[in-house]
Amino acid sequence: MSEKGVVAPDQIMQLGLGFWGSKVLLSAVELGLFSELSKSPLNTESLTSRLGLHPRSSRDFFDALVALGMLERNDGMYSNTPATEEFLVRGKKRYIGGMLEMVNSRLYRFWGSLTEGLKTGEPQNEVRAGGAGLFEALYSDPDRLRSFLGAMTGLSLGASMAIAQNFPWKSYKTVLDVGGAEGGLLVQVCLANPHLTGVNFDLPVVEPVFNEYVATNGLSDRLRFHPGDFFREPLPQADVITMGHILHDWNLDEKRMLLDKVYSTLPPGGALIVFEAIIDDERRKNAFGLLMSLNMLIETPGGFDYTGQDCQGWMRDAGFRDTRVEHLVGPDSMVIGIK
Ligand SMILES: C[S@@+](CC[C@H](N)C(=O)[O-])C[C@H]1O[C@@H](n2cnc3c(N)ncnc32)[C@H](O)[C@@H]1O
Repeated sequence: MSEKGVVAPDQIMQLGLGFWGSKVLLSAVELGLFSELSKSPLNTESLTSRLGLHPRSSRDFFDALVALGMLERNDGMYSNTPATEEFLVRGKKRYIGGMLEMVNSRLYRFWGSLTEGLKTGEPQNEVRAGGAGLFEALYSDPDRLRSFLGAMTGLSLGASMAIAQNFPWKSYKTVLDVGGAEGGLLVQVCLANPHLTGVNFDLPVVEPVFNEYVATNGLSDRLRFHPGDFFREPLPQADVITMGHILHDWNLDEKRMLLDKVYSTLPPGGALIVFEAIIDDERRKNAFGLLMSLNMLIETPGGFDYTGQDCQGWMRDAGFRDTRVEHLVGPDSMVIGIK
């Protein structure tokens, strides 16, 4: 409603055309624009030629990024903002562009078929063209594997740092991350809690990337990899078991089966931490969590995101005696269950 009480269409148009801004950022990451500007600030001509762009629209492209808060421009020279310098420069420790690279090369196209997914309930990714399932597709090519695992580290970094700080780790000695990917969570948890040792249980193909990431962070003596398939093999024992962005990949029976398996693996008093974009119980505030659930429609045969109340109910059915939900950062929360 405007000041004069007239209903304005701008909010609707901003949302409807939101993909313009999104694609400008995704293309900037694809082109390595932020990595280039990290070397030195550049003027329009130099930046255009470094990125191999046509001059027709490069100025609009750069200035759109300025207007969107992703670049700075002073006296005609473009440079990164503090945030894009920290998070979008390839090779930096806190690079989160892997996620955006993956969104650009896969999800951007697949979301074009959202309506079909909504009508059929079928995934709209590689599976649709008779390809393999999500992880088989991602892991069939070493570059994609690496980029997906790096993407997960980026996506989960804020939540991982919050879990490392907020959970009472002092009461426990060992932690098992189920589907821990590159080791993003385990690294943050062990850096902040020097008494802990940890294990990542993930598919065998993930092991070299995990070992490399852990070594880069100087934690090879405290973190190790346990290869396996969580639908077929038992989990190794630990005082705390964590599952980030795992349950939402699977249907309800699979979710319950994983929770049962975790429950039977934990010792009495052991804890389960489930974390992802947990939807608010009223299902009206956490738009990111709800959109993530639609992303699971695009990507998986039966996956969906869920509320804290849903998850606590499944945990109690599995046998957990105490459960609670704690907010982490942005759209992410953790659901904790004590055996
Ligand atoms: C969406 S990622 C989540 C990564 C990480 N936990 C995070 O939150 O950033 C899912 C992870 O589950 C692993 N995964 C998928 N299927 C698996 C299976 N059957 N057994 C073990 N791990 C599996 C994948 O390799 C991947 O690392």
